[in-house]
Amino acid sequence: MRRALLATALIGLLTAGCSRPHHAPVETDPAKIAARALAMQPTDPKLAGLYSTSCRACHGTPGSGAPLAGDHGAWDARWDKGLPALMRSIVSGKNGMPAGGQCFACTPGDYKALVRFMADEPEH
Ligand code: HEC
Repeated sequence: MRRALLATALIGLLTAGCSRPHHAPVETDPAKIAARALAMQPTDPKLAGLYSTSCRACHGTPGSGAPLAGDHGAWDARWDKGLPALMRSIVSGKNGMPAGGQCFACTPGDYKALVRFMADEPEH
């Protein structure tokens, strides 16, 4: 019963995240940020597969040091740099971010879709 309630709350949180206006307050509770990152999964099955075998090890794992999926506090400033700049970071690597994000099957289109998913910017 409690699990069902938690799941409902999580779904509510995810749905709320999707419709979040660009300048709405950013979630700052680390527990909620972590729970959201752990629960997030791309809806497209191909993208979900690429995500779980590569990006997720860091971007879906609290404490890894990577900006977590769905964490606007960690992503908004990065997203504002624009997709071309973020693509350069992926291709060349950046500090703890390995070149290519350990995804050998990803196309440039996949990378863009993965960034959009992790930054939670589906509309842009
Ligand atoms: C081994 C861990 C690891 C993996 C795997 C990984 N990342 Fe990262 N990623 C990081 C870390 C750490 C950072 C933060 C780098 C920094 O800004 O210092 C980062 C940052 C980024 C950024 C922001 C770059 C910027 O310029 O601000 C993007 C975009 C990104 N990752 C995309 C991806 C994608 C897409 C995948 C999967 C295909 C992926 N990453 C896989 C660790 C990882």
